[in-house]
Amino acid sequence: METIRPITTIDNVRLCDDGTAVIILDQTQLPNRTVYLTLSTAEELFDAIHTLKVRGAPAIGIFAGYACYVLAQQISARHRDEFLSQLEKQADYLNRSRPTAVNLSWALDRMMQTARKAEDIPQALERLREECLSIHQEDIDMCRRISEYGLSLIRDGDGILTHCNAGPLATSRYGTGLGPLFLGRERGMNFHVYSDETRPLLQGARLTSYELAKAGIDVTLICDNMASIVMKNGWINACFVGCDRVAANGDTANKIGTSGVAILAKHYGIPFYVLGPTSTIDLSCPTGTDIPIELRDPDEIREKFYQEPMALPEVKCYNPAFDVTDHSLISGIVTEYGICRAPYTESLRAIFAKKKEENR
Ligand code: MRU
Repeated sequence: METIRPITTIDNVRLCDDGTAVIILDQTQLPNRTVYLTLSTAEELFDAIHTLKVRGAPAIGIFAGYACYVLAQQISARHRDEFLSQLEKQADYLNRSRPTAVNLSWALDRMMQTARKAEDIPQALERLREECLSIHQEDIDMCRRISEYGLSLIRDGDGILTHCNAGPLATSRYGTGLGPLFLGRERGMNFHVYSDETRPLLQGARLTSYELAKAGIDVTLICDNMASIVMKNGWINACFVGCDRVAANGDTANKIGTSGVAILAKHYGIPFYVLGPTSTIDLSCPTGTDIPIELRDPDEIREKFYQEPMALPEVKCYNPAFDVTDHSLISGIVTEYGICRAPYTESLRAIFAKKKEENR
């Protein structure tokens, strides 16, 4: 019998044994170097998110939980209120590292709420430790559940197109957008995955094709402008992508270029699915226009990954890191509590009601 390689063991984010630092796999070094970093100062933790050493909405949330606990232990306050106000400052600082993925503020809010409920500083530290470990464990569970729901949408032998990276590196274990493919592979299924390289930071080339190839899943890397031809060739049965923030009406922010893929998929009659946890759904954002879009350094377009700059320094560059896919282009939003279909204003609310019911 064919041996299926273990695929769900990438250790991308964890708390070090004594709890005083966060250890991450530096994603900017992949696929050529496997480098782990041990981070403990506020500046190091902020920088890791800002420079994409740790990236992907759920992984950012997990990391933020651990970072908050690490920084909480460094606070020298003697009284609970002073401790809480210093922790709040640290959480606000971390929250400014990137604006779009809502999992960052979601995890930091969870940590702050936990700290506020504690009676004194030792209890706050103990509860913060439990909370950040729970955020991570919950992510592992929800990735598995999303993968099951996502797998129900595709068949053995299907061609799947994906954009950016929504696998184990961006989450924990199975991933979201790629989760069904890893789960299906474990069950002996075969998929043909087309991975957009995802300009300008190449998460598709550096991370998605790395994860899939390591797992023994058939993957073909394409440039972003080749998505149309592989769809026209009839090679794509479904598109699976992750998400950074889903608005209440289903509009979804994800890596720049995602909305173009959705427009193409609509043209060719290919279902386009967004996969993500309920922690990425932000009902306080009515529509996609309310989602803050990160603008990044123009040099990422001009010179990153090139031997020499590919544009004159004076050439203006516009470098939004995300775009919003209109809800009308999305065939389904796959969460850990089930698959939401249009109208999303209703189905997303219903999924939160289901979550509340199941967690009573
Ligand atoms: O800028 P990045 O690499 O953090 O962007 C990541 C994405 O857009 C992912 O698709 C998204 O976070 C989903 S990860 C499961």
